[in-house]
Amino acid sequence: MSDDQLKAELLDLALQAADLAGTFLRDGRPDDLGVAATKSSAVDVVTEMDIASEKLITGFLAEHRPADGFLGEEGASVEGTSGVQWVIDPIDGTVNYLYGRPAWAVSIAARKDGETFVGVVAVPMQGETFRAVLGQGAYVNERRLTVRPAPPFEQTLLGTGFGYLAERRVRQAEVARQLIPQVRDIRRGGSAAIDLCDVAVGRLDAYYERGLNPWDLAAGDLIAREAGALVGGRPGEGPSGDLLVAGPPGLFEDLQGRLEALGAWHD
Ligand code: IPD
Ligand code: CA
Repeated sequence: MSDDQLKAELLDLALQAADLAGTFLRDGRPDDLGVAATKSSAVDVVTEMDIASEKLITGFLAEHRPADGFLGEEGASVEGTSGVQWVIDPIDGTVNYLYGRPAWAVSIAARKDGETFVGVVAVPMQGETFRAVLGQGAYVNERRLTVRPAPPFEQTLLGTGFGYLAERRVRQAEVARQLIPQVRDIRRGGSAAIDLCDVAVGRLDAYYERGLNPWDLAAGDLIAREAGALVGGRPGEGPSGDLLVAGPPGLFEDLQGRLEALGAWHD
């Protein structure tokens, strides 16, 4: 099978899996939804729906591609033998979902030998599915995406997020405090996957965050890049748990430099 045929198959499966999970989560959210468990801190929560959504996605994908590997936020971890690995966030924006806020997403990426081939971010409450295939552009529903051109730094609408650990948040708030007088405004949406899609679709000029996991960023990273954004970490590095920065050429480098000077990559 050629790489293009593989990409088409992976995209088709990722879209089906995201639709399945997104519909389940939208229509099946219990009115009395509560916290099933906590992870890194008391406010890092998991609901029964995160766990059920991950099972639905991995079950569907494994049925169609049994030799693939899996990495999922709620514990899916399978090595696989095909060279393809699925990176899954069954609900990105769990706190929004818990509170009945609409900004949550299902994020599914497929990597081949470490390179992201396909990214899908479904945002059911917006009726939008973002998708990208490496080298083939990014789309929301049927509309091709092009990143918003770089504004002057002081007119930047900047997205960011905060981790679940109090001492990390103190540092993150300090970085945001220093940036806010330099930009138009800052948004904290509550889903890293949507933040990256918002850069792709022009609803944010740029986005940065420290402390993301692979499942938060894998699909949105490709979608933003295929829309023309640059996505990186500290200068000269790719995005990582230390730092992710995304924005159009001309703004990306400036933001990355300022974040480096502010020490945004460390607690
Ligand atoms: C979180 C969201 C949030 C970001 C956190 C992530 P979760 O993912 O993406 O926007 O600020 O760093 O952990 O916990 O909702 O899957
Ligand atoms: Ca997440």
